[in-house]
Amino acid sequence: MNTYPAVIKWSGSKRTVATQLAEKFVPSDVYYEPFVGGGSMMPFARASKGVAGDIIPELIDLWLSIKNNPREVASEYESRWLDLQKNGADVYYLIRDHFNETRDCHDFLFLTRTCVNGMIRYNEKGDFNNSFHLSRPGINPDTLKRIVYQWSGLLQKFEFLNADYRECLSTVKPGDFVFLDPPYGGTKSRYMQTEFVLEDFYKELDRLNTIGAKWMLTFDGSAGDRIYSYAPPVDVYKQRYQIHTGNSAFSRLMDNKRDVIRESVYLNYEPAQTQLDLF
Ligand SMILES: C[S@@+](CC[C@H](N)C(=O)[O-])C[C@H]1O[C@@H](n2cnc3c(N)ncnc32)[C@H](O)[C@@H]1O
Repeated sequence: MNTYPAVIKWSGSKRTVATQLAEKFVPSDVYYEPFVGGGSMMPFARASKGVAGDIIPELIDLWLSIKNNPREVASEYESRWLDLQKNGADVYYLIRDHFNETRDCHDFLFLTRTCVNGMIRYNEKGDFNNSFHLSRPGINPDTLKRIVYQWSGLLQKFEFLNADYRECLSTVKPGDFVFLDPPYGGTKSRYMQTEFVLEDFYKELDRLNTIGAKWMLTFDGSAGDRIYSYAPPVDVYKQRYQIHTGNSAFSRLMDNKRDVIRESVYLNYEPAQTQLDLF
């Protein structure tokens, strides 16, 4: 059972369906999560060692700071938060400018906690460009401090890599388990300008099959009347089922619609108990 409140709020997070997904997790030697984002699946890893990666450097810096310097993370947040309560929205924009110059991970945590709808958004230059969420003061520093320390304990068994997913997965061995939550096809600008090439990703799934590692992939799916049809080739996976992941914050922000997101889950193994809603 996951008792970890989010420490890094991440748009596209699997937080609301984490327990549902974790039911099909299997024990492994090493747990890999190469698209870690806000890390909602990490507390469910059934391994004594984990490897987590992401392409965004400030995100990995932040994960490492939470792991190694929880006290500093909490106090850096507190000082920014107190400044914001005293001096208002200007503080947010000064911190955003500073972040865009330095990529300071403490600025990054503060921004994710105080920006509009918690959306991590970069412009074409790669600068963080979301605005201040006027009606939200940001999480209370004492509450955040407790959460940071709780996560710091969990993260001790994790190694973090700021790398492309293929580099992160280069050490996978038979008996390891990989949870894959890549960006949706066609939404590359949401995180970064880096293009996510599906053919390369499918090759990597194939490589993991050859090694004899087990993987779960959340991918594709539909939001309202749009279908993200980027299903992997049928011969790379063994099972496919759908879960409801709730409403899309992104759609809400962009066109004020409340799309219901359905997401496909693919497994390259047969889970122990099968109460799956298969196609
Ligand atoms: C859908 S999010 C993961 C959300 C995460 N499961 C959670 O619950 O918070 C996808 C992540 O993949 C990262 N990403 C995008 N392209 C990548 C790549 N080529 N290699 C590694 N990470 C990548 C993004 O920065 C983003 O954090």
